[in-house]
Order: sequence, then structure tokens, then C-alpha cells
Amino acid sequence: MSAGAKVVVVGSLSLDMVFQVPRRPLKGETVKGFSFETFVGGKGNNQALAAARAGASTAMVGKVGKDSYGELILETLEKNGVDISAMSTDPEAGSGLANIYVDPDGDNSIIIVPRANDRLLPADIDRARPLLEKAGLLVLQLEIPMQTVVHAAELAAELDLKVLLNPAPAPDDGELPEALYKKLDYLIPNESEAGLLLQRNIDGVDAALAAARQLKKRMKPGAVVLITLGEKGVAGIGPDDEELIVAAYNVDSVDTTAAGDAFAGCLARGLTEGLSLKDAVREACAAGALATTKPGAVPSLPTRVEILNLVQAGSGKNT
Ligand code: RIB
Repeated sequence: MSAGAKVVVVGSLSLDMVFQVPRRPLKGETVKGFSFETFVGGKGNNQALAAARAGASTAMVGKVGKDSYGELILETLEKNGVDISAMSTDPEAGSGLANIYVDPDGDNSIIIVPRANDRLLPADIDRARPLLEKAGLLVLQLEIPMQTVVHAAELAAELDLKVLLNPAPAPDDGELPEALYKKLDYLIPNESEAGLLLQRNIDGVDAALAAARQLKKRMKPGAVVLITLGEKGVAGIGPDDEELIVAAYNVDSVDTTAAGDAFAGCLARGLTEGLSLKDAVREACAAGALATTKPGAVPSLPTRVEILNLVQAGSGKNT
């Protein structure tokens, strides 16, 4: 196992089945779609690829099934320079699947069936310890078992490794273990995930700042909470309790799938390359915006050059 990646992502990998539809079907309704394509996806996989394309040395820890989807997922990671030495293939489960409906506004609805992702267990994380010992940041999401997420965060704390959690998908009851919150350096929900975590509606920058302040109290001292607000940018609270607001970039969106993953992966790159928090968030906002300009998860994840071009061109709003 090679042990040089700065960003280690522990999480899910899937095959996305994407339907372009005029609108999402209602109960009992059949809707005729425009087109269908498959893409490599899964939040963990997307975040690892986003970090690698943004320029970070990256490793992925996860599980695929012993099938052609699993082979394609591993091949795609490798082609993008992601270290897959801690990936495993489960002979008894299929690879994770996602069914995604994208409407003409680029908004989506997603159903996931975790399959092999549900079989990523604490012992798999222990096997990746050599990677974590050398890493600069552990990136987590919630498409794998919660016990595995908590175990990874605990191991990171033992190794003095910083932890970033993208709490997606957020549990309906909003409950995350206190033991997990206490290990987090960065928490990056979107508006609706933050709403679930706090069990109230969060709409707009002021509500997001109040929510970030409340979530930060549950975390490690000096932690950072960043709430992504789509077209309204990002609002959060930094390590010294300072407010951080970054405007969104103006782009023509066709599919918002993986925008949050592009944000997370690019942010991980910035944080491990010594960027200031504000600059890292600015680049991550650009990555998230760019990911909405192309269909599908993985094909839409931007490269370092594309991210820097958008940051330099700016939207006129990012000061
Ligand atoms: O965040 C986007 C991802 O969510 C998709 O790639 C899909 O696999 C789901 O996990």
C-alpha cells in the first residue's frame, strides 16, 4: 500500500443511472424521459475524484462489488491518479447504484441502493491506517454505515489527522452521534442538510450563519462550519467564530449532480495545500459551480486549470 496521499476519502462509490426527465414522477404516474446515460458516481468517489482533479494527491477507501460496474469505478479512479490501494472488492455484493432524475432546470432527485457500500466496515478502515498516518485530511460523507464513519473519525483523532464531514445524505431525524461531532474539524452541509441536522428550516445567509454557529458548538474547539447555499454561495463560521460569506459564481447550470462533491473535494485540496480558509472556499465555490455546467457526476468535476480560470474571471461579487 502506498502511503503518500494528503487527502484520504472514506466513502461510497456507485454507478449512476441518470434519466433526463421533463419533471419528477408523482405517485402512481409514468413519465416519459428524454434520455438515459450511466456515469460513475457515489459521493465518496466523486469527492476523491474532485480532490484529485483539483490537484490534490488523493486516496480512496471504499468497497465495490465484483461486477463490471466495480471494475469501471476502480479504473476511473486510477485513470485520475487516485490511490486505490485501500479499495476492496466484495465478492458477495453488487456495486452501489444510484437512480437519478434530472429535470430541465438541472435539479435532481436521487435514489441510492448502497449494496457493497453497506459492507464497508471498521476493519476495512483499520487496514487503511498506513494511508491515514501520512495524510493531511480525512474526508467523510454518510453513504456508508454510521459505525464505519464514526470509527474512521476516531482513528483520525488518534492519529491527529483533521476530519471533514459532508453530512450527505443527512438522516431524516437529524441525529448524528455526539462522538462524531466531537471529532470534526470541518462540517460542510448544504442548506437542507443543515436544516435536517437542526430540525428546522434554513433559508438564506442569515439563517445559515445562525445554523453554522449552533452546529459549531457541537464540534471540536476551533472547528469550521460551512453551509453551501447554491446560488447564494456559502455562509459559515470560521475557527475564531468569525463569519465567512463567499458569493456564488454565475454559470449556466444544466445538472446540479455532484456540485456538493466538487465543493468538498476542491475544499479538501485547498485546506491541505495551505490556502487561507477564504481562498479555499472561493476555489471550492468555483468547483461547485463548474460541476453544474455539464451533465453527470464524474464528467462534470473540474480540473485545477478550469477552477483557477473561473476564480480569476470571477463573478464580480467575490471580493
Ligand atoms: O452527490 C451526487 C451523488 O449522490 C451521485 O453521484 C449519486 O451516486 C449519489 O450518491
